Amino acid sequence: MQGIKILGTGGYLPGKKVVNEDFTKIVDTSDEWIKTRTGMSERYVSDGEPTWYMGLKAAQQAIEAAGISVEDIGVIIDSSVSVDYYTPSMSCVIQGKLGAVNAMTIDINCACAGCVYGIDMAKRYLQSDENIKYALVIANENLTKITDYTDRSTCVLFGDGAAAIVMKRRDDALYSSFLGADGTGAKYLFARSIPPANAFMTGNGKVDDEFPESNSHYLYQDGREVYKFATKALPRALTTAAEKINFDLNELDAIIPHQANARIIETAAKNLGISMDKFIINIDKHANTSSASIPIALDEAVRDGRIKSGDKVGLVGFGAGLTFGAIIFEF
Ligand code: UT7
Repeated sequence: MQGIKILGTGGYLPGKKVVNEDFTKIVDTSDEWIKTRTGMSERYVSDGEPTWYMGLKAAQQAIEAAGISVEDIGVIIDSSVSVDYYTPSMSCVIQGKLGAVNAMTIDINCACAGCVYGIDMAKRYLQSDENIKYALVIANENLTKITDYTDRSTCVLFGDGAAAIVMKRRDDALYSSFLGADGTGAKYLFARSIPPANAFMTGNGKVDDEFPESNSHYLYQDGREVYKFATKALPRALTTAAEKINFDLNELDAIIPHQANARIIETAAKNLGISMDKFIINIDKHANTSSASIPIALDEAVRDGRIKSGDKVGLVGFGAGLTFGAIIFEF
């Protein structure tokens, strides 16, 4: 089996910490509601840091941990739903700041499954192109800039942050992935870009996207629909990835799920028959950082020794798109 070796991880959290109690001053909510419904207590929010900066800082730390030369990176994949520019891409901006002169750059928009999609894409580049020695996968999110702080049903949920992974190809190593999507659920979780506008427009070509009415660029979420999807997508992605290689999920040493809601993780653990002890959860400290949530948790677990070389690890993400995906690999 062609697998991967993660050589180094890094993370960056912005400077401002917001606790549940802080929201009680701006919307009708309570620490108790947020904690019991989501498992969240604190989150870090941008204090002015742009998305690319958080990704750059995480990438620098991951490269240092990997002990490689930045010129040897052949591909940079950046995952974000909260970029700084329509163009250039986050990966290109970060490539320039890093001096990764030999790296091609790709941005992906797979929301909370973005890191899983990114690692799997990177693995395929490493596998198919002998000239690509190392891949850098970054997930950086600035969700609070697309968060509506008058909407209590979403504003308490999101935080900002970034994490990065340096990886290389490894022969004969455990690896399986399963990636999926259900675009019929796109309307349940979205943030609009600017609508069509030009000097000659009459409006006759206007098309209804059948998404709920929303004139802003803020995140809209139908929490109940996404919750239903998530509790099914999480076990389905992991189980399908395992089945592809005849792997028993109980052999995993650690599972890092997307940190959207502690209740989603508990329900999935129960349905999978896997002990909660195997799940790495940091939602209390970070809330939901979309695609950055899995690699932030991975970086923390690697740094404090909960995940170590040789461990069998499962990563599983789900979110807007709707997208979902899981990877099983040996760390
Ligand atoms: O990261 C991408 C994937 N995202 C997810 O996986 C998120 C999935 N969804 C969820 O995690 C949950 O649906 C939420 C945490 C978003 C919401 O929890 P819920 O238990 O599904 O609550 P709800 O939307 O059913 O709302 C229950 C009640 C409502 O009041 P009524 O209608 O029962 O009177 C809401 O208005 O809670 C109310 N509510 C709040 N109350 C206090 C909603 N937000 C708040 C709040 N504080 N912040």
